[in-house]
Amino acid sequence: MSILIKNIKELLQIRDNTILKVVGQDMKILPSLKNAYLLIEDDTIVDYGKMEDCHNIKASKTIDATGKIVLPTWCDSHTHIVYAGNREQEFVDRINGLSYEEIANRGGGILNSAEVLQNTSEEALYQQSIKRIEQVMQMGTGALEIKSGYGLSTEAELKMLRIIKRIKQNFPLKIKATFLGAHALPKAYKNNKRGYLDLIIHEMLPQIAKENLADYVDVFCEKGYFSLDDTAKILEASKAFHLRAKIHVNQFNAFGGIALAVKHNALSVDHLEELHQEDIDALKGSNTMPVALPSCSYFLSIPYTPGRRIIDAGLPLALASDYNPGSTPSGNMNFVVSTACIKMKLTPEEAINAATINGAYAMGISNLYGSITKGKKANIIITKKVPSYNFLPYAFGENHIDQVIINGQCL
Ligand code: NIG
Ligand code: FE
Repeated sequence: MSILIKNIKELLQIRDNTILKVVGQDMKILPSLKNAYLLIEDDTIVDYGKMEDCHNIKASKTIDATGKIVLPTWCDSHTHIVYAGNREQEFVDRINGLSYEEIANRGGGILNSAEVLQNTSEEALYQQSIKRIEQVMQMGTGALEIKSGYGLSTEAELKMLRIIKRIKQNFPLKIKATFLGAHALPKAYKNNKRGYLDLIIHEMLPQIAKENLADYVDVFCEKGYFSLDDTAKILEASKAFHLRAKIHVNQFNAFGGIALAVKHNALSVDHLEELHQEDIDALKGSNTMPVALPSCSYFLSIPYTPGRRIIDAGLPLALASDYNPGSTPSGNMNFVVSTACIKMKLTPEEAINAATINGAYAMGISNLYGSITKGKKANIIITKKVPSYNFLPYAFGENHIDQVIINGQCL
């Protein structure tokens, strides 16, 4: 099966296969081709070029993209999309004046979601989750990282990870699974942190590795959750199972978690709403991708990650949704890109780089995803007719997507 997309108004994010991330000032550049064609063969991008060079190309299907923009699908490197129920009551409680922290301290928050998930059957949880998977694919997400972390018992963490595996098998989008047993201290271990760390390290991790259920490991490194010491223990133990870290850090407090993550060669550090100069310095010269989650800041009314400072310091930046029931009940990457421009003052070029190639890097897949590159996977967004790509983040909240192709399949 081959697909020829022709008369493309502008084909964005054209890279050669040596580019795995874009850093600092280079993020301002979004290489593109006007009046272009793109050729897909099965699940792979095989060719592209100027329309005037598009001679004698035969394809089983042709799409006319006159007036439309074509770009790679979003690579959403941080989600908790597998969850049970919702937390709309806590949303109302926050409107009425309670803070996220106060709600958590009353047994709400992550523990609330964990209780609901433990009481939801594997089949029901799968059905609830795939509805959201279908939604985000329609909104242009072609690669997705999914975390566990609403189980908080060996059985329920395994249940979540098996569902992620099932999603991997049944959907065309690329999935990476992250084990987040250290998301919160479960009720049963309220006064026994050491006991829960032992459970994670000696029971959960070996079992998950045995069943090959996770690609990465995550820890919520935050006051009242997991300390630097706790985080170090988990990252250390994960090394034996070849699980690289992607960690929740600096969401509410900055206390050295980024330097620790970099020391452990983390693939990404995510959130960073609170950021000190030491954190920026720690990231310099590292292989660790800073990831901002602007929809979370929007929903919780907390500071936005200082993306400008990060990029202006010569660092890369990725954008992700954080889709979860508590802090970000939305997986809309189009909104993430808009919000990064509007609130974090990223240029459209920077935001698109952050949500495609750098998002792919933050999930360890930028060799095959995140750009228009011969040999990469055919994951493509075709927009509606728009005046320019600046219009996509500018006209926020509107659906600009006409068609999505994932792994060579038209949705
Ligand atoms: O990334 N901060 C930790 N985890 C999630 C929120 C979890 C929840 O409230 O359910 C986040 O924001
Ligand atoms: Fe998160």
